Amino acid sequence: MCGIFGYFGPKKNATEIVIDGLKKLEYRGYDSWGVAYKTKDDIKIHRQIGKIGEAHLVVEDVEDIEESIAIGHSRWATHGGVTQANAHPHTTENREIVLAHNGIIENYLELKEVLVQKGHIFTSETDSEVLAHLIEEEMKNDNFLSATKKALHQVEGRYAALVISKKENKIIASRRGSPLIIGIGEDGERFIASDIPAFLKHTKKVQYLDDNELVVIDAQATTFYNLETDEKVEKRIIEIEWTEESAEKGDFKHFMLKEIMEQKETLYRAINQDAGLIEQVADAIKNAFGTYLIGCGTAGKVCMTAEYMFSSIAKKHVNTAFGSEFPNYHHFLTNKSLVIAVSQSGETADTLEALEIAKAKGAKIISIVNVETSTMARMSDIVIPIKAGPEKAVASTKATTSQLAILMLVAYAAADRLYEGKEILVSAAGQINDMLNPRYEEHIQQLAEKIQHAESMYIIGRASNYPMALESAIKLQEVSYIHAEGFAGGELKHGPIALISQGTPCIVLVGADETRKAILSNAMEIRARGGYIIGVSPQKEEVFDYWIRVPDCETASPIVNIIPVQILAYQLALLRKNDPDMPRNLAKSVTVK
Ligand code: AGP
Ligand code: GLU
Repeated sequence: MCGIFGYFGPKKNATEIVIDGLKKLEYRGYDSWGVAYKTKDDIKIHRQIGKIGEAHLVVEDVEDIEESIAIGHSRWATHGGVTQANAHPHTTENREIVLAHNGIIENYLELKEVLVQKGHIFTSETDSEVLAHLIEEEMKNDNFLSATKKALHQVEGRYAALVISKKENKIIASRRGSPLIIGIGEDGERFIASDIPAFLKHTKKVQYLDDNELVVIDAQATTFYNLETDEKVEKRIIEIEWTEESAEKGDFKHFMLKEIMEQKETLYRAINQDAGLIEQVADAIKNAFGTYLIGCGTAGKVCMTAEYMFSSIAKKHVNTAFGSEFPNYHHFLTNKSLVIAVSQSGETADTLEALEIAKAKGAKIISIVNVETSTMARMSDIVIPIKAGPEKAVASTKATTSQLAILMLVAYAAADRLYEGKEILVSAAGQINDMLNPRYEEHIQQLAEKIQHAESMYIIGRASNYPMALESAIKLQEVSYIHAEGFAGGELKHGPIALISQGTPCIVLVGADETRKAILSNAMEIRARGGYIIGVSPQKEEVFDYWIRVPDCETASPIVNIIPVQILAYQLALLRKNDPDMPRNLAKSVTVK
């Protein structure tokens, strides 16, 4: 997880630029942060716990330097608690090497043991610090570049790392499994970050670093190497389409609300996909000997929803697995299997690992991602970009509905009814546009006020609305911190109904299909035991204590039903004084296994 940012260039306020960039990456991890900058003959490091907030650093001894060099890190702890000593950047006892690392060095204990025997003194509990000592150890016999290459060959696991040395004016960066992108600015300025929006205000010209590559950024050039062959690699400069505003909050108080409201447009963008691409994926499913949809968290719930859609629309069975569980199914994979990854970031480690396993078995790989230039997209045979624009809030909203829309289109295409699917979705997008108005928000706000002190909440649904009940629970858990659980409506009576007591809020997602009567019976069962029934439904039903109206959008019902729950979760977060954009213990992009 974590965000890293580096600056090389003539501007004297390099540290300020890095802190500003880190603020834009904070959604990736925000338990602690730090920066390091070069002075004439030293490297200064500042680290602290907590969010960056309005941090402003007074820098020293940078007036007489020729090139400004600074690196920074915003952490999501994996190894070692949230302390100042564990915050990055890390260095060594001689302070020759300073490094910011994203990922996990899996063999750090073995490496550390050897380094301790050689006299290295460790000051943190992190895996990352090992890499700094390792490079310094190699530098006893080598220059900075060769030493870094040799050290990287010894580490196992995933990493994106920025390294600077007291001795040389350069940034060396490398990646394996975690993202790093280089931004090319004016006057020899270079930025390097985990994500493009972090430097979007400085430049739209980017160069991608691929896995097992290393880049040296110095006054002369930006030089890329393949770490395996040690050969230089030529890189194209690509111009990015994203605007700076699309990655900013604008008039909204939080990214989460902005992104919920954006669904008015993002759905249209998803639907107006290249029809050829949709057909191509539908054909791949028809021809495959086993299709697996893979995703984590919300994306995993999208996959489960799509499984129902493929069944009812295309009369086709597809399998679903969470990224972290998929490796347990590898026995079935062959070169005729098809694996479709669903991901907003395209960088989720569990999903990536699943794809690596599938690729090794010769399976065809398709990805449905928001970040078109992500690792997942780059390792896929076919990519469908969902075109939702940057999603910054940790809780996924607009990416979710766009992924659902794309998969629904593929299901219709697999049934040779793509046009019909498109019509249903266009009509749903129009009705969502009408629905998302201030009165609607106010109505949900009144509900949020009523239930804000609830200890537990339950959400039920049937068929394609069952995974949306699970997704509703994720939304409520991650930003409101209320205990929330989703169930298949019919399952309650087999155990969970024992949890219902007087006034327990229960959200009922009513499908616009043949499951309506059954889910309303399940709502009755809950009400009979004192539950407070919140119905999300096209029509008002007797059993509801509180009704949230959604348009009747036929097979697009899971798409419209999740939106009011997103709004409810957001409003509960505010009422309970939580930060909806950066909820506790989480990070936007989960780049560790
Ligand atoms: C969504 O609200 C969550 N923050 C989380 O479950 C997320 O969907 C999951 O980590 C997968 O991320 P991805 O879509 O970037 O792969
Ligand atoms: N494993 C490192 C740590 O725990 C880096 C974590 C991250 O990617 O934020 O500090």
